[in-house]
Amino acid sequence: MKRSEINREIRLAEEFFASFSFRLPKFAAYTPEDWSKHGDEIKEIYDCELGWDLTDFGRGNFRSEGLLLFTIRNGVSGSTLYPKPYAEKIMISRSEQVTLMHCHEAKTEDIINRGGGNLVFELFNRKGKTTELDRETPVEVSRDGELLTLAPGSKLIISPGESITLKPDVFHKFYAEKGGDVMIGEVSAVNDDHNDNVFHEPQLRFPVIEEDEAPYRLLVSDYRK
Ligand SMILES: [Fe+2]
Repeated sequence: MKRSEINREIRLAEEFFASFSFRLPKFAAYTPEDWSKHGDEIKEIYDCELGWDLTDFGRGNFRSEGLLLFTIRNGVSGSTLYPKPYAEKIMISRSEQVTLMHCHEAKTEDIINRGGGNLVFELFNRKGKTTELDRETPVEVSRDGELLTLAPGSKLIISPGESITLKPDVFHKFYAEKGGDVMIGEVSAVNDDHNDNVFHEPQLRFPVIEEDEAPYRLLVSDYRK
């Protein structure tokens, strides 16, 4: 992805979150210069990978296959320094913008429609410990405390205010229904994007960036650079 496109998407995301009066922590507004003025006192932000995150899954067409995220809180699995066992994110799925089929090894996550349009899910059980979808067995999922039993791959609509709980090994793909962008919340177990994601098809978790202009905001994937 070009950095100019990432910058544009983050500016639009700031407007989108503000339109719901959803406020982000102060470091969300840091410029690259602001980051360089800080030292070890903000090490937790880097180490727990808090902040802006955006991916086109390495497919090169962000608005059709992509997701914008901001990690608000997180810990590090197995760490005594950051033992927080939970995480929270706020995300945006634009109209028909698909988050590709994946599941998690360890993380249980609640995906919450915080407002906007409808969110559409397609769910499958995982075949053993493979990257394959079980196209035979029904999927059990909780929608706000209500147990649903779904045919594999059937569409489940999550409307504003609703949420579903995705347990490990439940493959999920989701997108905003045509015509309405969705602000999505995630409340989950501790998040480890380097080891916990299982992708059904080849894809990258973080974008490959072409630096055609200076960053407006740093992404979590910029912290290590
Ligand atoms: Fe997920």
